[in-house]
Amino acid sequence: MSSDPDDLRAIIMGDARKMYSETVIDHAMHPRNLGEMQIFDGFARITGPCGDTMEVWLKVRDNKITDIAFMTDGCGTSIASGSMMTELAKGRGINVAIRICQQDVLEALGGLPEESQHCALLAADTLKAAIRDCIALQKEPWKKAYRKYQV
Ligand code: FES
Repeated sequence: MSSDPDDLRAIIMGDARKMYSETVIDHAMHPRNLGEMQIFDGFARITGPCGDTMEVWLKVRDNKITDIAFMTDGCGTSIASGSMMTELAKGRGINVAIRICQQDVLEALGGLPEESQHCALLAADTLKAAIRDCIALQKEPWKKAYRKYQV
């Protein structure tokens, strides 16, 4: 077996391509909108049944998502799912984005193996929770002053 790093990388990527679409690999390797926000209009943190956590921050103007960020301590497919979820939500109205579901994320990624499909659910559920948080803060904006990151 070769010890050349380029050969090893080619072998690993070859194996990954047998399981994942090019879109999944691209979003896992180059996640969009990865990071945190200090100033935001909505935030959620959800831990899925697998024990992995995702966080989503939103900036909203005129009920439209103008910026979005996510973080996760999960696997590569949760990174790809979070990344794709942010791409689907950015620029959308919150009443449209709140309907983004697991299936939407899966379809946009070109599918995931069955054992990884819950990663797309975690991404969609965290987005919904962040939008619900934004709506709650719109109703009671004074609560923003008493919050940091916690949900
Ligand atoms: Fe838990 Fe991916 S395995 S989110």
